[in-house]
Amino acid sequence: MTRASQPHPKNANGKKRSFLLYLTSLALFYPIMRFAGYTIPKKPDYVKITSQLPLTGYLITRDFILFDKGGLCWALSRKCTHLGCRLHYSETRDILECPCHQSQFHASTGNVVKGPATKPLTQFPVEKRENNPYYIVTT
Ligand code: FES
Repeated sequence: MTRASQPHPKNANGKKRSFLLYLTSLALFYPIMRFAGYTIPKKPDYVKITSQLPLTGYLITRDFILFDKGGLCWALSRKCTHLGCRLHYSETRDILECPCHQSQFHASTGNVVKGPATKPLTQFPVEKRENNPYYIVTT
């Protein structure tokens, strides 16, 4: 009576084998797809800024700098496009500077002013609103 409820030993081995085959194919498939240039798209994050910007017209967060100047709003990533260090904003020179290898980026456009970085900064979409949250930045 108990024998009927237990799986046949041959069946159990077949399930184990197919599961291992499944894991092996997954382990091989993903690196091949990465090598071919495929990346899994990241889900966007919506960062809500719940206060008005200071009179300086910019707000520095961990991941981006939000500007609201002259009726325009934009947000630039703080991740250097050279090797990924976190950028600092120099208000007097209106540039973002990298402390690692001294790349500089224009604060209005994110374009490279001085290398070794060659690519411009990532610009994030900003939605300005009348009520709280006053800004929504899509990263
Ligand atoms: S990491 Fe920024 S310049 Fe090298």
